[in-house]
Amino acid sequence: MRSMLMILLVMLLAAGVQEARAAASRPTEAVPMASCVSADCHGDVKSHRVLHGPVNVNACDSCHTLTDAASHSFKLAREGKELCTFCHDITTDDAPVVHRPVLDGECSSCHNPHGGKSRAMTRGANIREACLSCHKDADEGMKFVHGPSAAGACDSCHLSHKSNFRKLLTIEGNELCFDCHRDMRRQLAQANVVHKPVEGNCLDCHDPHSSNFTMQTKAAPADLCLSCHQADMKTALAGKHKHSVVTNDQACINCHTSHGSQLADLMKDEPINICMQCHSKPQQAPDGRKVAGVPEVNDPKLIKHGPIRDGNCSGCHSTHGSDVQFLLAKTYPAAFYQQYADEKYELCFSCHDRQLVQTAEARGLTNFRNGEQNLHYLHVNREKGRNCRSCHSTHASPNELHVRESVPFGKWQMPIGYQKTQTGGSCAPGCHEPYEYDRDTPRVYNTAAAEKEL
Ligand code: HEC
Ligand code: HEC
Ligand code: HEC
Ligand code: HEC
Ligand code: HEC
Ligand code: HEC
Ligand code: HEC
Ligand code: HEC
Ligand code: HEC
Ligand code: HEC
Ligand code: HEC
Ligand code: HEC
Ligand code: HEC
Repeated sequence: MRSMLMILLVMLLAAGVQEARAAASRPTEAVPMASCVSADCHGDVKSHRVLHGPVNVNACDSCHTLTDAASHSFKLAREGKELCTFCHDITTDDAPVVHRPVLDGECSSCHNPHGGKSRAMTRGANIREACLSCHKDADEGMKFVHGPSAAGACDSCHLSHKSNFRKLLTIEGNELCFDCHRDMRRQLAQANVVHKPVEGNCLDCHDPHSSNFTMQTKAAPADLCLSCHQADMKTALAGKHKHSVVTNDQACINCHTSHGSQLADLMKDEPINICMQCHSKPQQAPDGRKVAGVPEVNDPKLIKHGPIRDGNCSGCHSTHGSDVQFLLAKTYPAAFYQQYADEKYELCFSCHDRQLVQTAEARGLTNFRNGEQNLHYLHVNREKGRNCRSCHSTHASPNELHVRESVPFGKWQMPIGYQKTQTGGSCAPGCHEPYEYDRDTPRVYNTAAAEKEL
């Protein structure tokens, strides 16, 4: 039944061919090879820009053998790769990696035996088309295709027949990439810090062919980086307070470079400059919350708090995420008033001596004292203690001691009216009567009343 259908099909096809070639009827006796290709016959055999040597000289019989002149039937002169290796010395046993179709003698799967667009006479418009006829998944359907692949030059990285390296590569490892990306080689040679995986293998992060992410990375920035850094960043990322830039869009590469940098921690620029690109102005959190800008950091008229002067925002902020509000690295109270406890001020005490506020007796530990009465202790270390923020500005201020002009008390900017003297100072805030303090000649007040007022 099946063979009956086949015969029918062949008859129908033969009829079709006869109709199409009505102009030149099929020869019934042997013809000279020079006349095989004419306007009416086999025009396509010589229609290529580059013609194969034997085709060019009409040596059709080097590959085609006439089997029956009457029916104008031919068979190939030799089987498999012998057809070609008869003239071409293609040895494969001298290389550890041989391409399967070469090994199998399927020379014509890539080469058109008659001719082609290029010297190598590969099938299709370029080498890529020839390769994709078998390797459809090499880059199909991807949004970003690597330059040489897009240009059709699979052979810029792969040898087609055989290679000394795995995957038929022309060279191994990162040298393959540096061969073209010479500026990258130079950049890395000059960098103080080179990212470990870059020293190792570019392919940890890049697909050599194509991907759905810009720069043919294997994943979007956050996923890419976290594929290795999940563990060391777990605590930060799980923090109650998140910094959306760490995982949004450009994520890690908002602040870090992927390859190499002059700066520690692979920073793109001095950290303070990176932060201020966004934080000189108010920012909006994904939940709509407004975060005030900190333009005071860059105000040349102001005196900077030590770590800011040193460009070290990380002295106080955990940029990747934190359990403390404002992404603070350590605890620091949010409220104006609270009962004092040492561990509420770990942030400040990570750099300043905690004894500043621990004893009623100043013992020279602070200049904020009236005689030996510790006024830091008096204001901070009590049931309704004040936050450092109520007297000191955090980032920068007009004076050395960062004592504020005014303090936000609810919606009111309450003036403090601080005046410094040689041996003490005075303030006239909204919270209490004006008071003075003097380290050498302590001012005398009704302590009980003053304490109550405070
Ligand atoms: C280097 C070997 C080689 C030479 C030389 C060669 N051919 Fe071919 N030809 C082939 C092979 C192999 C095929 C088998 C079909 C295929 O793989 O495309 C073929 C197929 C054909 C076909 C079948 C239809 C087609 O075009 O695909 C024709 C007709 C043909 N050749 C004509 C010629 C003529 C005319 C010449 C001389 C001018 C010639 N060939 C020289 C190898 C050769
Ligand atoms: C009868 C001998 C002969 C046979 C058989 C033959 N070729 Fe060739 N081939 C040549 C000649 C001659 C050239 C031209 C060499 C030149 O220009 O230096 C050539 C050139 C080529 C080239 C271009 C190489 C270059 O360096 O320019 C390729 C590719 C090629 N042949 C592939 C094949 C394949 C595939 C087959 C089998 C289907 C085959 N050849 C069969 C003689 C042959
Ligand atoms: C997977 C595709 C592919 C297969 C299969 C293949 N070739 Fe090639 N061949 C190429 C490409 C592409 C080039 C051009 C050189 C390059 O860029 O690697 C080439 C180059 C050549 C050349 C010229 C340069 C040289 O190496 O001498 C010859 C001759 C040749 N092939 C013959 C053959 C023969 C014979 C076979 C079968 C045994 C074969 N090719 C199988 C893709 C292929
Ligand atoms: C006729 C089909 C065919 C064509 C055309 C073809 N390949 Fe292949 N290729 C194969 C097969 C089959 C394998 C072996 C796959 C396997 O082992 O899983 C292979 C394997 C490979 C490998 C992996 C080798 C390794 O060591 O694992 C690379 C790289 C490759 N091909 C590149 C190319 C390139 C580049 C081209 C175009 C120049 C091309 N192929 C054209 C059939 C083809
Ligand atoms: C920039 C260099 C480069 C270019 C261009 C390139 N490749 Fe590759 N290709 C590679 C590297 C590197 C590997 C090995 C990847 C690995 O180690 O997993 C590879 C692997 C392969 C493999 C084997 C995949 C596997 O999983 O074993 C195939 C098939 C392949 N390439 C085909 C192609 C084709 C087809 C093209 C052209 C469209 C092409 N390549 C262009 C560098 C390249
Ligand atoms: C044969 C030369 C060549 C090789 C080898 C090569 N590249 Fe490329 N690469 C290019 C070209 C050309 C571009 C496109 C440049 C452009 O569009 O500005 C490119 C672009 C890229 C880009 C995107 C850059 C951009 O600005 O869009 C990345 C990432 C890249 N290559 C990585 C690699 C890696 C990783 C390797 C090694 C596996 C590699 N390249 C090997 C030539 C090469
Ligand atoms: C840790 C992951 C990672 C590794 C490893 C890596 N890259 Fe990249 N690469 C990226 C990311 C992410 C981008 C895009 C964003 C950027 O510019 O940082 C990129 C961008 C590029 C670019 C385009 C932009 C530019 O800076 O020129 C090139 C080219 C490039 N990589 C080449 C390489 C080469 C070559 C290697 C190996 C020596 C390599 N990459 C290793 C992640 C990586
Ligand atoms: C393939 C795994 C891998 C990927 C992907 C990866 N990294 Fe790394 N990264 C490492 C290793 C390993 C180190 C070195 C750790 C060490 O020395 O303790 C490192 C170190 C770092 C460092 C610290 C550098 C220093 O000087 O100590 C930073 C910052 C960094 N990576 C950022 C990134 C960013 C941003 C990305 C995404 C573009 C990324 N990493 C993707 C493996 C990776
Ligand atoms: C807003 C800027 C910013 C973003 C976004 C950012 N980082 Fe960082 N990263 C820093 C700064 C600043 C440091 C320096 C020291 C510190 O604060 O811990 C750092 C340090 C690091 C270090 C080395 C020291 C450590 O803490 O382990 C790694 C690794 C690191 N970052 C990875 C990442 C990864 C992965 C991402 C994305 C998921 C990312 N960073 C996103 C600013 C950033
Ligand atoms: C690309 C813009 C961008 C960069 C760069 C950036 N931030 Fe942010 N930052 C934001 C946005 C947006 C918010 C709003 C809160 C959020 O992300 O959920 C924010 C919030 C903050 C907050 C307040 C958190 C809160 O919950 O109120 C602090 C503190 C902060 N960033 C510090 C830094 C530091 C330190 C750096 C530099 C290491 C930096 N930021 C770099 C965009 C940025
Ligand atoms: C000495 C510790 C310290 C340093 C250093 C520091 N900050 Fe802060 N930052 C804080 C504290 C504490 C807050 C919470 C508000 C307050 O108490 O003033 C804060 C709040 C913020 C806020 C949120 C503003 C708001 O009102 O919502 C941003 C943004 C910010 N800092 C950015 C930065 C940047 C950028 C740097 C580096 C230039 C930096 N900080 C350095 C301690 C610090
Ligand atoms: C990362 C370390 C660090 C942290 C955290 C820190 N400071 Fe400072 N602070 C300094 C440095 C350094 C100076 C400048 C000392 C100098 O110039 O001699 C300074 C100066 C001061 C001054 C001015 C007095 C002086 O000696 O110059 C006050 C007030 C102050 N800090 C309060 C605070 C408060 C309040 C906190 C907690 C919100 C805090 N600091 C957190 C490092 C820190
Ligand atoms: C009631 C206001 C007030 C509060 C609250 C306050 N300070 Fe002060 N602080 C001052 C004044 C005023 C000075 C300046 C003393 C002088 O030099 O005359 C000062 C000075 C300092 C100094 C400079 C060294 C010294 O002791 O003379 C540091 C450091 C400091 N304060 C840290 C803190 C920290 C940390 C907190 C929170 C735990 C805090 N302050 C809370 C008013 C306050």
